[in-house]
Amino acid sequence: MSVWSNNAKFVNGKLEISGCAVSELAKEFGTPLFVIDEADFYARAKAWQSALNSGFGANAGTVYYAAKAFISVEIAKWINEIGIGLDVCTGGELEVALAAGFPTSKIELHGNNKSVAEIAKAIEVGVATIVVDSLQELARVSKLASAMNKVQSIMLRLTPGVEAHTHEAISTAHEDVKFGFSIASGAAWNAVVAARSAMNLKLKGFHCHIGSQIFKSEGFELAADRLISLLAKYQDEFKEELPELDLGGGYGIAYLENEITLDPIETMTHLANVVKKSCAANNLKVPQISIEPGRAIVGPTTTTIYEVGTTKEVRLENGEVRWYISVDGGMSDNIRPALYGAEYSAYLANRNSDASLRNSRVVGKHCETGDILIREVKLASDIEPGDLLAIPATGAYGRSMASNYNHMARPAVISVINGTARTILRRESAADLLALDIKESPRTIPGVTQNERRDK
Ligand code: LLP
Repeated sequence: MSVWSNNAKFVNGKLEISGCAVSELAKEFGTPLFVIDEADFYARAKAWQSALNSGFGANAGTVYYAAKAFISVEIAKWINEIGIGLDVCTGGELEVALAAGFPTSKIELHGNNKSVAEIAKAIEVGVATIVVDSLQELARVSKLASAMNKVQSIMLRLTPGVEAHTHEAISTAHEDVKFGFSIASGAAWNAVVAARSAMNLKLKGFHCHIGSQIFKSEGFELAADRLISLLAKYQDEFKEELPELDLGGGYGIAYLENEITLDPIETMTHLANVVKKSCAANNLKVPQISIEPGRAIVGPTTTTIYEVGTTKEVRLENGEVRWYISVDGGMSDNIRPALYGAEYSAYLANRNSDASLRNSRVVGKHCETGDILIREVKLASDIEPGDLLAIPATGAYGRSMASNYNHMARPAVISVINGTARTILRRESAADLLALDIKESPRTIPGVTQNERRDK
């Protein structure tokens, strides 16, 4: 059951996650519901750190969990307890980390357009690293650090010109992208020179992130190789070594039964061999190697539970019949199918069914044809309103990219462990949906009555 979290299993047709039957969870917490397998989250996060440690030994740096995949105060507390670092890419994500009391010495700040306020806050609270993305930003960080009389550690985000084999929108390190400094064009080297002469900055090393949901190792290897060549050039030129290389995240997971989730040990052993070889070829000591997995930690830990609201037979032009199953969520809690053509699988979760399978499409409740969660899936022909469908592997970029489209309340996230369940992020309420509306907004223009104003 590679698409499922470690502690999920079907008992007589009923899905249980870490000892909690999802039908009971649905009754208690409502649907749609994100159910996160807490022990699985811990296990996966620890597995990446120990794989990094075993691959790189003394040169193992930090696993920075990519908050963008999914963060909440509780998750930040878990990350802290596990003892790994946190990658945040906005002031908002930083606020969550701070609210959780996350140690700032283990936070790195990303982003291609960090505001002055975000940079100032990050320096003020003492984040470990700011990953600098442009020359303007370099100047901003330097100016702000100087004004605060602090020395800020930075890394430079580099684009190694690698075509990662993933969806275009989530591939980040080829040349024509908004991120980082291109190595090939010489921009990266100019940034190195600028960073060395900027006041109150300490250049720690280079960073790259080639994309997301990647399975082929070639991209990671080529990127590492190109960054290491630049480290070697640095050493030649300045007769000193940069201590750290951060190779980003992007490790792929299974969304469908026939797919795999990358194994941390295998992945890190392979990467370590490549890095060691490349460093040896460049006459360079192996630097500290850090990584930033998001999806590979949280993605498989979470299952979304929906309740079926309606079912409908639709006759297609070719005479075939498609069974439309509408659930009580959709593109507001999982935009990935609509945005990236992402594929998922769905399972009847509340009972056994011996009914024959039929061609089904799982759709949401939004007023939009493209609100499709699963384009084609075989599901039991006796599925009816009130049944529960489970979609596994929705932990990454699900709740974190959720919206209030059509004024839908974003679902709760509950954590399950050893038969107990608790809310870690509550469901939005009608009051939340109205919270930003200014109900008594004055429309007066001095000397003009409301009616006169309307008439103009
Ligand atoms: N580090 C950096 C600098 C990143 O930009 C990202 C993801 C990560 C780490 C974590 O990547 P992961 O290990 O999760 O693949 N919304 C898209 C994915 C966007 C990824 C953006 N950056 C999706 O739903 O597939």
